[in-house]
Amino acid sequence: MVIKVNSEAIRKAIQQKYSEASICVEGLFNYPTGKAGVEGLNYDATFVQSAPKELIDGFCGVGNPFSLGEIKAGETVLDIGCGAGFDLFCAGKLTGANGKVFGIDLTPAMIDKAKEILDLAGISNAEVHLASSENIPFENNKFDVVISNGVLNLSPDKEASFAEIFRVLKSGGRLQIADIVLKEELPPEEMSAKAWSN
Ligand SMILES: C[S@@+](CC[C@H](N)C(=O)[O-])C[C@H]1O[C@@H](n2cnc3c(N)ncnc32)[C@H](O)[C@@H]1O
Repeated sequence: MVIKVNSEAIRKAIQQKYSEASICVEGLFNYPTGKAGVEGLNYDATFVQSAPKELIDGFCGVGNPFSLGEIKAGETVLDIGCGAGFDLFCAGKLTGANGKVFGIDLTPAMIDKAKEILDLAGISNAEVHLASSENIPFENNKFDVVISNGVLNLSPDKEASFAEIFRVLKSGGRLQIADIVLKEELPPEEMSAKAWSN
């Protein structure tokens, strides 16, 4: 079925929700977030223990992209929809001083928060940019790995998002995403921008 969506309304609803989430994630999601989320998803205990509390508290991913494959020292990684930055922090530790990690996010408040916390955490091989998955602001063939956690389900144009991911991945690069999917079609009355962003 082809679903007609109002992309601009969806983007606005997402930015509104995640501006709220940048202040506090509690009560905003129907899955475990913050410390409970990280602990339930088998993240590397050394990363969990060494991350600033603000990074753990701001986590609202749905899975663990690092469980899908190894990220090696020296690699270049892009995190789409980096949020407060916990996955960027983990990727930065894995790639090390000779690697580089980049995050993009659609919500200005999340980008501000990620910058602040990554500075606090002393992660010097990470940078974050305001951008969407449908228009990734990097050149072709740049990344060894693209990760994403709970984001692509929110994209109103998934075809464009995957085309962009394919474009920026090196030949032989890897895509490691955690996400949620609908098991059944939603009735049209539930396809509002607000429902999309929930
Ligand atoms: C469920 S949160 C996940 C955040 C982070 N990955 C984590 O694990 O904590 C979704 C994040 O993706 C961002 N986002 C939503 N749609 C996006 C898109 N199309 N492109 C880039 N970022 C997007 C939101 O602003 C939000 O920060």
